[in-house]
Amino acid sequence: MVWTSHPVSRLKGVIRAPGDKSCSHRALILGGIAAGTSHFTGLLEGDDVLRTGTAMQALGATVTRIGPGQWEVTGTGPRGLSSPAAPLDFGNSGTGSRLMMGLMAGYDLTVDLVGDESLSARPMNRILAPLRLMGLADTAEPHGRLPFRLTGTNALKAITYAPPQASAQVKSAVMLAGLNAHGTTIVEEARPTRDHTERMLRGFGAEVAVKRGDGQARTISLPGRQPLSAIEAAIPGDPSSAAFLIAAGLISPDGNVLVEGVMSNPTRSGFFDLAELMGARLGAEDTGDAAGERLIDIQSGSAALIGRNVPERLVASMIDEFPILAVIAAFATGETRVTGAEELRVKETDRVKAVVDMLRANGVEAEEREDGFTVQGCGGPPPGGGLVETRHDHRIAMSALVLGTAAQQPVSVDDISMIATSYPDFLSHMASLGADISERPA
Ligand code: S3P
Repeated sequence: MVWTSHPVSRLKGVIRAPGDKSCSHRALILGGIAAGTSHFTGLLEGDDVLRTGTAMQALGATVTRIGPGQWEVTGTGPRGLSSPAAPLDFGNSGTGSRLMMGLMAGYDLTVDLVGDESLSARPMNRILAPLRLMGLADTAEPHGRLPFRLTGTNALKAITYAPPQASAQVKSAVMLAGLNAHGTTIVEEARPTRDHTERMLRGFGAEVAVKRGDGQARTISLPGRQPLSAIEAAIPGDPSSAAFLIAAGLISPDGNVLVEGVMSNPTRSGFFDLAELMGARLGAEDTGDAAGERLIDIQSGSAALIGRNVPERLVASMIDEFPILAVIAAFATGETRVTGAEELRVKETDRVKAVVDMLRANGVEAEEREDGFTVQGCGGPPPGGGLVETRHDHRIAMSALVLGTAAQQPVSVDDISMIATSYPDFLSHMASLGADISERPA
């Protein structure tokens, strides 16, 4: 079966953004090692996050669903995690597996980690390398790919580490290992990446210092062996999921989409900043805060967009939004050029290739670059009519379906099952805006 998104003349409605995936993982992880019982509302119940909850439970925390999006987590307290009885299966989740590797490295435990086909092809040495510097015993897998066994130690030493990649997962893994290490762990970031680990650790009562350096540089210091205390928190809405709805409003011939409760954090706002540079007029209204993050409602409507060179300073803050950026770039007038985004090559799939193939299958001219891609905008609705190969990548599937809402011809995808990893309500949200997405035999 393939799923097809048919062009519609209008998209209109109000949607509450689903819980942020990055914050949901971190809430379950930190709640699982804190002293006491934490309560979360608005937690994202995507497959990736649920697997992190199951993993924390297998390591000794108590993780209970109270109602839709409402979760209770009783943590083990300091140094309380122990070896799970069975392998931990992280499914498609790079964030869950990598953050948990950092956490588990600081405990006397042995764990087997497994993942799906996509996760088993993704590089893990970027996490294992700093953990080895901290004293992690070697893992059984020399190639740095799942599945492998990890044996942690209660005797990790703090390090000062400058990740070679702009990666919040690497930063966060080092910090979570540092939380149980002896001494103060320091991470030096040349380009700031999403800072939810820093913010949420503070919420749980930990001391975390962040110093600004030259340009965009940041130095994060975290003293080890700090106790965490349980919290009550509402998870903010996910800007990366909201981006699909905002984009759908922008490209629709008659678009009027309001997304409520979106986290507004400069380390995540690159797509919205860029859309405005391309000519979108996004209304944003402050509506309070949640879990130490600001919340806004974002309004989008039909816009005549202009292609742009994406400033490299925005790349890290929109790293998950390049597939949907490629879609709005296809409707724009002129060229959009992405550079400095080599990390796209190691996402759920090689997203440079997947994005270019998605556009070409739908009659849009696009070229790969080693560190990004270029799109020749059609100055209006692109031809469409293609079948897009999603390659286990939820964001390619959602981007292609959004493209279909306003292309000249319907756009199909070969699989939608992966959408549930990050945005289980995507299809119902799109339907409530007026999208026409349906299943048909291949
Ligand atoms: C995430 C970090 C990013 C992002 C991912 C979520 C996180 O990955 O792509 O979806 O929650 O820390 P990288 O750290 O590999 O850039």
